[in-house]
Amino acid sequence: MSNIFAGKFIVLDGPDGCGKSTQTGMVSDWISCSGAEVVSFRDPGTTVIGEKIRDILLDRAHESMADNVEVLLYMAARAQLWKENIAPALEAGKCVIMDRWISSTCAYQGCAGGFGVDKVIRIGSDCLERVWPDVTVVLDVDLATSSKRMDRELDRMELKGDEYHRKVRQGFLELGDIEDSVTVIDAKNDIETVHKDVVEAINKYFEGA
Ligand code: TMP
Repeated sequence: MSNIFAGKFIVLDGPDGCGKSTQTGMVSDWISCSGAEVVSFRDPGTTVIGEKIRDILLDRAHESMADNVEVLLYMAARAQLWKENIAPALEAGKCVIMDRWISSTCAYQGCAGGFGVDKVIRIGSDCLERVWPDVTVVLDVDLATSSKRMDRELDRMELKGDEYHRKVRQGFLELGDIEDSVTVIDAKNDIETVHKDVVEAINKYFEGA
């Protein structure tokens, strides 16, 4: 019997400091235990080209980068990741767990940067083979909680300021209203509680599948 997670595309996303990298690892372990083959990638990054684009995007020296340039670079890294890693994994029946996807471009550049969420989705539709995954779980945290979790040197995106990051959070919250495959959960709790909620959100989505 085939595993319900075989060939499924799952994204964890949210504001900086929401804990999604930790939760991505925990979800990967949980789905592996169910018997599915799981691979996990980060966006932007993973591919050689994507990691170079990531360096350009996060370099603090590139303060003057325009919002539309950000959109195109994030989208370019994502298109490469799809071709090199995601598409072959899905075709092989693996479950793909992503640390960020187009939901981030909608919240950061589309909403906080003022580029427009509709325009982000339009560009994604034109240049990606798949815009929305099977399910996107957004880990919601307030600014005070996320700032406490980021006690390290910040990159160019993280340095954009409180007002920008408040809008990023708002962008993620609003995505739940415009796209059915996006589920928002409260990520303020401890790691185990958040994991339980993520598992519940994913199970709910695949119920009856
Ligand atoms: P990460 O540190 O979570 O890997 O993400 C890198 C940074 O890039 C983070 O601040 C969020 C930001 N970002 C965007 O602004 N737009 C995007 O489309 C993606 C994927 C990330």
